[in-house]
Amino acid sequence: MASHLITHIKLLVNTRTENRLLRGTELAELPCIENAYMLVEDGIIAGYGKMEDIPASLLTVTDQTDATGQLLLPCWCDSHTHLVFAASREEEFVDKIKGLSYAEIAAKGGGILNSARKLNETSESELLRLALGRLNEIMQLGTGAVEIKSGYGLSVEGELKMLRVIKKLKEISPIPVKATFLGAHTYPEAYRENHKGYIDLIKNEMLPQIAKKELADYIDVFCETGFFSPEETEIICRAGMAYGLKPKIHANQLHLSGGVQTGVKLGALSVDHLETMDEDAITALANSGTIGTLLPTAAFFLRMPFQPARRLIDAGCAVALASDFNPGSSPSGNMNLVVSMSCIQMKMLPEEAINAATINGAYAMELHDQLGSITVGKKANCILTKPVPSPAYLPYAFGSNNIDRVMIGGEWT
Ligand code: NIG
Ligand code: FE
Repeated sequence: MASHLITHIKLLVNTRTENRLLRGTELAELPCIENAYMLVEDGIIAGYGKMEDIPASLLTVTDQTDATGQLLLPCWCDSHTHLVFAASREEEFVDKIKGLSYAEIAAKGGGILNSARKLNETSESELLRLALGRLNEIMQLGTGAVEIKSGYGLSVEGELKMLRVIKKLKEISPIPVKATFLGAHTYPEAYRENHKGYIDLIKNEMLPQIAKKELADYIDVFCETGFFSPEETEIICRAGMAYGLKPKIHANQLHLSGGVQTGVKLGALSVDHLETMDEDAITALANSGTIGTLLPTAAFFLRMPFQPARRLIDAGCAVALASDFNPGSSPSGNMNLVVSMSCIQMKMLPEEAINAATINGAYAMELHDQLGSITVGKKANCILTKPVPSPAYLPYAFGSNNIDRVMIGGEWT
């Protein structure tokens, strides 16, 4: 058995014996142990406690790390990304700086359709190579589990190609990967005036093949004015649900789209974005089992108002934090920045942000039995920080690299 012992940990963060999705005031409780040890056996957390209580038998473990002055916390669980894409879109970024509107950028061939055109021209092996690079980058930044969406194919072949790339990532990635089918990301040009035709394509061509080849865990729809209406969202989600795919939907990003209420009605695992919320949407979410996933770096990048995290938490919602890593609205998968931004701009407490980015993120991918906290029996996917004074220092010292090393499956990467 491969054993590894980490000793003299200044603070072991988010230690839990019981799993629970955290909502409202529970989010501010971050259980920690000072001057701690943690034992890893065969990639799994096998024990932890205070240094003064360490069993004598453990001191003979040959493979040890002295973590004096350092914090050890569970890896970030990033439950919303689009990290399979063919090319970056910095020309749009510059156009926006120069004052071009969304419509003008779309008219120049920009936006989601731009990414779809490039994706359909790119080979599966090249897409895999690019995505693996991004996956390795976010692992070094402390991400220990990730959800990845399709949605830049927008054709039967393109969507299947993206999902095959994600399936391959699942097979070779050292961290758990969940796959979400987002065929309903936008209407492709040919179906702009024929919504029924595209929805039929999703229902009759894409979903049966995706289900047969087991290419997806979840179904997503961009429920938004000018994209998919709540009624269309419901039809598409129900078609996916018939194949066992739970909805995780893009809701209330740009408008009060009704996406949150639709997600709640469908029993969605999560409704994501939530930049634009009113009391109705907040109450519906608070009274549901659906997780509200906040994507602050997307709001930041698009210069939009940030998600009303305080109102959501104070109303009793279960919130998670994710990166939305994609070429159009969040070209960064850095969860450290996501956590910082949620504290700085959304007034989340550091404890709330860390919980939302770990245990609640794990719930938003149904990986809570394996990840999201320091718990005996969970995977040893952990972040060892540089010597820092406290957990609050991590979001406070934004932009610094506060990570010393990342452990994935019990191995330092
Ligand atoms: O989550 N909002 C919809 N989809 C992405 C952006 C897609 C793109 O611009 O490529 C998002 O923000
Ligand atoms: Fe997204």
